[in-house]
Amino acid sequence: MINKDKIERINFLARKKKAEGLTAEELEEQQSLRAEYLEAVRANLKSQLDSIEIMSPDYEESYTEEDKTHIAEMNEKLAVEYEDAKRKERMSVTEAGNPRKPQGEAGKMMIERMNESHAEMTAWALDKLNLKPTDKVLDVGCGGGAALKRLSGRIDGGKLYGIDYSEVSVEASKELNKADIESGKMEIHQGSVSKMPFEDNLFDAIITVESYYFWPDLEEDMREVFRVLKEGGTFMLIAEMYLNDDLDEHHIEMARKFELRNLTVDEFKALFEKTGYKETKIHLKDGKYWICVEGKK
Ligand SMILES: C[S@@+](CC[C@H](N)C(=O)[O-])C[C@H]1O[C@@H](n2cnc3c(N)ncnc32)[C@H](O)[C@@H]1O
Repeated sequence: MINKDKIERINFLARKKKAEGLTAEELEEQQSLRAEYLEAVRANLKSQLDSIEIMSPDYEESYTEEDKTHIAEMNEKLAVEYEDAKRKERMSVTEAGNPRKPQGEAGKMMIERMNESHAEMTAWALDKLNLKPTDKVLDVGCGGGAALKRLSGRIDGGKLYGIDYSEVSVEASKELNKADIESGKMEIHQGSVSKMPFEDNLFDAIITVESYYFWPDLEEDMREVFRVLKEGGTFMLIAEMYLNDDLDEHHIEMARKFELRNLTVDEFKALFEKTGYKETKIHLKDGKYWICVEGKK
C-alpha cells in the first residue's frame, strides 16, 4: 500500500540520486518503491475508468439532438483520453522495468505486462511459421516466456528452447512454463544472443520477438543465430515497428527514449541476405507498424 511515507521516501531517493548517487541497496529500494507506486496509480486509474458509465442507448428517445451531439463528443473525448492514459502508463511501466535487460521487481512486472501486450502481434506472426510437431524451436530474448508457451501447443515430440541474458526474464519464463520444463519438453538458458550455448545447425526454427532492437552487434548476432539454425530452417524476426515515413509520434518517441534500433524494410532485406539466408519474406500488418521478417537458410 502506497502511503505518504513511501512517497516521501521516493522523493528523497530521487533527490539523493541526483545530488550524490545511491548505493546498490538504495537503487534496489528505489526500483521496488517505484514499481509499487506505478501499480497503485494503475489500479486507481483503472477503478476510475471502470466507474465511468456511458449512458444507455435505451434512453436515447428522451435526448435532444443537442444532448446526442454532446454525448457523442464526450464519448470520443473519453476514448482518446483513455487510450492516452493507457499508453502513458505502459510507457512508465516499460521505463521502470528496463526493456533492454529487465531487472528487479519493476522488470518482473514489465515482462508480465509484455506477455499480454505482445500477444496479438506474436500470434499474428507465429501463425505464419510452418512447424512440425517434432521440430526443435528456439526463442531468442524470450522475456516472460509467453511466445514459448504459445508454441508449446504445436510441439509434440519436438523441443522448445528459450534464451535471454536477463535473470529476471529467465526466471519469469521458467515460472510460466514450469510444466513443460519439468517434463523435459522445454529448456530455458540464461545467456546472450552473441554467444549461444548451442551446437551448429540444431534448430528447425528460431524466433525473436521485440528483442533485436537491443542486440549489441546486429550483424555478428545475426550470424550467431544463423549458425545454430539448420539448413532449410526458418528464422523469424518479429517487431512492433520498423522505420518508415508514416511512423507516428508515439513510436518515434519510444525508439528515442529506449534507444531502439529501428531498420527499414530494405535494411532488413539487406541484413538477411548478407547473413546468408537464401530466401527472405517480409510480412507487414495493415493498420499497424508490425513487421515479421522470415529468412530461410
Ligand atoms: C522487450 S523484451 C521482449 C521479451 C519477449 N520476447 C516479449 O515479446 O515479450 C526484450 C528481451 O530481450 C532480451 N535481450 C535483449 N538483448 C539481449 C541479448 N543481447 N541477448 C539475450 N537477450 C537479450 C531482454 O533481456 C528482454 O527480455
